[in-house]
Amino acid sequence: MSLSHSINRRNFLRISGATVAVAASGLTGFSSQVLAFGQQSTIILPALPYAENALEPYISAKTVSIHYNKHHAGYVANLRSLIAGTPYDVMPLKDIIKRTAGKSLLPKLIFNNAAQAWNHSFYWDSLKPGAGDKAPPSGYLLKLIRRDFGHFSNPTKNNKGEWIKPGFKQKLFDAAKGHFGSGWVWVVLNKQRKLEIITTSNADVPFTQGLKPLCVIDVWEHAYYLDHQNKRVDYLNGVLDNLINWDFAAKNSLAKI
Ligand code: FE2
Repeated sequence: MSLSHSINRRNFLRISGATVAVAASGLTGFSSQVLAFGQQSTIILPALPYAENALEPYISAKTVSIHYNKHHAGYVANLRSLIAGTPYDVMPLKDIIKRTAGKSLLPKLIFNNAAQAWNHSFYWDSLKPGAGDKAPPSGYLLKLIRRDFGHFSNPTKNNKGEWIKPGFKQKLFDAAKGHFGSGWVWVVLNKQRKLEIITTSNADVPFTQGLKPLCVIDVWEHAYYLDHQNKRVDYLNGVLDNLINWDFAAKNSLAKI
């Protein structure tokens, strides 16, 4: 048994005879697709790659627990609810994000929850206990950093305590500190395989702009407010000195864009 889904000219989703309004949804292009009855959604909440207390003392178990079990899980649950019974339901998460990027209304709502689900999985993998300066970039990633940023971390400061020649790590810190409002700071490779540091607002992701993400830091307040209140820099120092997973970034740097 199967259920046919089609979008008619009035933007209604027809499911086995029942018509559900998704007015002006932009859910177009699926007229030839058919979902198998009972087919399982591909959208899941991946397990955390470590225990909830593994990032202490820099990120508390309470923060990780709420961040993962409430925020991340909430985006996944919202997304599953929004796409239930639509062709998005059996689509890989990245494809959902690409197909809804830059749209409005319902596709925008789907995009926000899908991208936040993907971003958070990537964020958990971008952190690791015993990382940061204990396992700094090496090999090919370090070559990219030296080629495109001069050096990873220059300890030289002037008599005012200011960085004389900010290196890659300092520029990453500055980008994360300076991002206004909720968002993400990313290390990416562009189409010319040049290393860049970028920030995105809200749920936006680099790969919809042709950029390959290597690692990310969540700078939404929910990532640090329980531990540091409004002091984002304290969170960033803990992450960049102790948790950022350069091995994960290095692995991603070797993948094709
Ligand atoms: Fe978050």
